[in-house]
Amino acid sequence: MATLVLFFAILLFLLVSVSDAQSSFRPKALILRVEKDASTLQYVTTINQRTPLVPVRLVVHLGGQFLWVDCDRNYVSSSYRPVRCRSAQCALARASACGDCVDGPRPGCNRNTCSVIPDNPFIRTATSGELAQDIVSIQSTDGSNPGRVVTVPNYIFTCAPTFLLEGLARGATGLAGLGRARVGLPLQLAAAFSFPRKFAICLATSGVIIFGDRPYRFLPGLEPSLRYTPLFINPVSTASAYTQGEPSDEYFIRVNSIRINDKPLSINTTLLKIDSEGNGGTKISTVNPYTTLETSIYRAFTSLFIQEAAARNISRVAAVAPFGVCFSTQNVFYSRVGPNVPYIDLVLQGQNAVWTITGSNSMVYINDVLCLTFLDGGSNPRTSIVIGGYQLENNFFQFDLAASRLGFSGTLLGSRTTCANFNFTSNA
Ligand SMILES: *[C@@H]1O[C@H](CO)[C@@H](O)[C@H](O)[C@H]1NC(C)=O
Ligand SMILES: *[C@@H]1O[C@H](CO)[C@@H](O)[C@H](O)[C@H]1NC(C)=O
Ligand SMILES: *[C@@H]1O[C@H](CO)[C@@H](O)[C@H](O)[C@H]1NC(C)=O
Repeated sequence: MATLVLFFAILLFLLVSVSDAQSSFRPKALILRVEKDASTLQYVTTINQRTPLVPVRLVVHLGGQFLWVDCDRNYVSSSYRPVRCRSAQCALARASACGDCVDGPRPGCNRNTCSVIPDNPFIRTATSGELAQDIVSIQSTDGSNPGRVVTVPNYIFTCAPTFLLEGLARGATGLAGLGRARVGLPLQLAAAFSFPRKFAICLATSGVIIFGDRPYRFLPGLEPSLRYTPLFINPVSTASAYTQGEPSDEYFIRVNSIRINDKPLSINTTLLKIDSEGNGGTKISTVNPYTTLETSIYRAFTSLFIQEAAARNISRVAAVAPFGVCFSTQNVFYSRVGPNVPYIDLVLQGQNAVWTITGSNSMVYINDVLCLTFLDGGSNPRTSIVIGGYQLENNFFQFDLAASRLGFSGTLLGSRTTCANFNFTSNA
């Protein structure tokens, strides 16, 4: 009898300590791998979700409100829970409508649920979708290597219909929204594990997204050093559809001026500010593969760039679409930071907040010529400057939502590393 009691005591001890060990592990940061899809130029990541867990391929939308996935096809999970209308989770998602789907119950179609608006910015289409919760599992990191996998049992996301996948990279079944909304990945994960409201992106053909604070290390052990500029809130949503009064979930910064080889462009400064209707200003976006500039800025920018290139005997050749300005490779030398062309400075708000763009991020080699990867954004765009994916590559960015500031590194190529250099050997 005594032995039996002792046996149970030990068993209980073991059970408790095992579950304790699991629940007391608090990750300091989480990491996702990101790959660039060659045909759409979108950045794609994979998150494990559901019970049993399955890998879900998602296109990264830096300014997206939340995670949404196609629930109409192949969504099988015993842990799926629709979010009830007027619940706390519903308020967190700023939902203003109730849904009542009578064809269910099934994932994406239940009665008396909270209805939100999943958005596909690539085709500028939005629709209504059921807010839901399910298990999500992500790898933790100490900043140098991936560590053990952790789970969020009640991760809030949105169910979308299959047609909303149009225009997304092959195999993607949803969008990973990294926007500033409370139900966006950064704030929801920070809340789930009580880590700082910060996340970082380092994009390239292969790169990473890290949720949580420093350290962030890239082989051979380098921590990118950062300069800072404030993040601005656009008071009017930039999503394809939204309820009136909603602010934008996207990340805006202030470009105060642009220089090429230290020569300032003359720009109508009204365009650089966000007005009361939410027009103008500068945002960072993974939806645009290349930076777009409002027409008058584009014209001033390209003519000064062409002039500075000519001063180095780099001559213009016929353009290759979608680019408007291309050059002969003759007289162009190469360095670690790409082709040696005029360098571009984005002079941002804040002290020393100059983001220098070298040939690695301004030029692309195509059909034996070099093209300038800045595009004409039209004469009345919603946002005057949209900094696109190509300009972000192999640069490290930390979005600090608590302090409302952006840390940026400039090209990592100058420090002999790249975004592909995170050490993915697990030390769990
Ligand atoms: C500057 O841009 C604003 C906004 O587009 C426009 O209303 C204004 O007329 C422009 N000013 C000049 C001098 O072109
Ligand atoms: C450009 O070419 C001209 C004529 O060949 C030459 O005199 C000049 O030194 C070159 N300039 C540069 C910056 O290479
Ligand atoms: C990557 O991390 C593993 C595990 O910590 C370590 O053994 C290995 O040396 C690292 N690789 C490099 C190239 O430093």
